[in-house]
Amino acid sequence: MRLVPPRKSRRPAPARKAASRKVAPRKPAGRGARPVRELTATARLAQLEKLLEMSKKISSTLKIEEVLRTGMASAEEVLGADASSIWEIDAPKGEIFFRVVSEEGTSAKGIRLKIGEGVAGWVVQNKQPVLIADAQQDPRFSRKVDSATKFVTTSMLCVPLLVNEDCIGAFQLLNKKSGEFFDEHDLTLAQMLAGQIAVALDNARLYQEKRKTLHHVALALADVIEMRDEYTGGHVQRVIDYSMLIAEKLMKDEEELETLHLSAALHDIGKIAVPDRVLNKQGPLDSEEFRLMKAHPETGTKMLLETRILMQIIPGMRHHHERWDGKGYPEGLKGEAAPLQARIIAVADTFDAMTTNRPYRKGLALEIAIEELRKYRGTQFCPASVDAFLKAHEEGKVRILLKQYHASQPQFVPDPDENRLREGVGELRRDL
Ligand SMILES: [Fe+2]
Repeated sequence: MRLVPPRKSRRPAPARKAASRKVAPRKPAGRGARPVRELTATARLAQLEKLLEMSKKISSTLKIEEVLRTGMASAEEVLGADASSIWEIDAPKGEIFFRVVSEEGTSAKGIRLKIGEGVAGWVVQNKQPVLIADAQQDPRFSRKVDSATKFVTTSMLCVPLLVNEDCIGAFQLLNKKSGEFFDEHDLTLAQMLAGQIAVALDNARLYQEKRKTLHHVALALADVIEMRDEYTGGHVQRVIDYSMLIAEKLMKDEEELETLHLSAALHDIGKIAVPDRVLNKQGPLDSEEFRLMKAHPETGTKMLLETRILMQIIPGMRHHHERWDGKGYPEGLKGEAAPLQARIIAVADTFDAMTTNRPYRKGLALEIAIEELRKYRGTQFCPASVDAFLKAHEEGKVRILLKQYHASQPQFVPDPDENRLREGVGELRRDL
């Protein structure tokens, strides 16, 4: 069999594969490329077993990136491919983009093709699989990706990702390791995998859309709450911003961060049930009014339980008035018994309450409010959340946000009266 070496003038082969790289014989492009070797029944059985194993992995995880990477890695192993990628449709733009790409294609991640452009674009447009012995000779082949990655594509197998009749992307495998080319048997296996990948990708898309909708609903609700309160303009957004500054240091998981964002946006959703005369009272609250105000975490919980939406934000919202020493409400949870989301919001919420004007008092200067957080670290506040906030303050990020508030309040002069601090943070938090 004649082997054609990679064209050195175009690119060096990827380092990891360079030593063993062989290139498939040049053959006319198209479907039905002739297999060079026949797999034994045992080898085929082994392939199927690996596929089944991969199927189990796909159905056992909800993290889409993990699902897709697992699918690709298994496909590369089972079908003996050098690289693979999953393209997804961006329907509004009439384009396809790399959803996931294996190591060799990292530098091509931002590349987009028109539907119909390149082999993957052709597959998406025609909803048909293709087998290509030498991509460089195929008129459908786009060189954009190879140019970006310095990878030379030779043999290709590309199948559409179909959900019912709709094509949502394409799955492609590149360069058969053996130096031969993909055959009909490989195509059948790839189509089986593509079916599972398509379902996983489609579920992820639906889930993403649901999350986006929930996000919009949450922010719209937060606006409604804020409109009722005459004195806390921008409070919700600042609590979100301060919470995210803290979370940057304490949380890694994207979903966890998103939940915190929503919890911070709706931490006071229960105030919808607090009468206007209490919510907008120009003066300290009496005990009955304070009781009504203190009911807002419970009210918020009931509302969300009844509507059955945004349930994931309940822990962060319900417990944002708990204290580290267990003297907070509604449940008096102590230490880490209160969810981290709630402990973060407590710091963000209090800091904003301290530094902004209220009907009957001015906001405190930044350094005084910071001192208060330090002072009540480990009694009222979660130490880790305070430390993260102090770190953000040292980085100058808190000051930037506070300056934005000051700019929106031309008359703002921070209250320099430190005597008021003798009242304690408990007093400062009464109006929350
Ligand atoms: Fe609150």
